[in-house]
Amino acid sequence: MEEPARPVRHSQTTITELMVPSYANFGGKIHGGILLSLMDKVAYACATKHAGTYCVTVSVDNVEFLQPVEVGELVSLHGSVNYVGRSSLVVGIRVEALNVKTNLVKHTNSSFFTMVAKGDDEKPAMVPRLILETREDVKRFIESLHVKKIKSEKKEQMNDARSHIDVGRAGEILRDERCIIQLK
Ligand SMILES: CC(C)(COP(=O)(O)OP(=O)(O)OC[C@H]1O[C@@H](n2cnc3c(N)ncnc32)[C@H](O)[C@@H]1OP(=O)(O)O)[C@@H](O)C(=O)NCCC(=O)NCCS
Repeated sequence: MEEPARPVRHSQTTITELMVPSYANFGGKIHGGILLSLMDKVAYACATKHAGTYCVTVSVDNVEFLQPVEVGELVSLHGSVNYVGRSSLVVGIRVEALNVKTNLVKHTNSSFFTMVAKGDDEKPAMVPRLILETREDVKRFIESLHVKKIKSEKKEQMNDARSHIDVGRAGEILRDERCIIQLK
């Protein structure tokens, strides 16, 4: 039997974490991998709250670090289920860093994680339908639907592009690129 539908707000989650020195890279800024790991955690929290089952990460879109995050800043990751399919969920994540001294908040990035709910048999499991209570909820759901379609078309084009590479024409194709062909 299908689980009852759940509103977006049921699974909205925020994780806040202090950026400690051990998270920094050689340049003194926070490692991108630390932020990615936190994003994965918030995506999991949202997905599993909505689905009521264990979930796995399938794909990640739009990872662009727009501004560096500094040691000592408080990073908050706001996650929200934007879309549900049969067993998949798209979680939108907004990352913000608060400088506690100046009280300034900067938006460092927004990303979209596709998660899949799994049943006890480890197979993809049906997730509850999503109740859209605000215009923003509706907008995000439609946006995700469009992106899903574009991604599937792009995937086909990329597979096509990969299977049609003519190494014999490399000299011509790569004329303006910054590489040197020295085939042995
Ligand atoms: C994701 C996974 C369950 C898909 O399994 P599958 O047998 O291909 O299942 P299906 O074809 O039925 O797809 C299940 C859902 O995943 C979605 N999906 C599959 N591959 C996808 C991709 N690359 N991007 C986005 N969604 C994808 C499908 O659209 C489908 O969604 P829907 O049920 O809402 O229609 C499987 O590939 C898996 O377990 N991957 C490992 C995930 C993992 O361990 N992640 C942790 C990182 S190590």
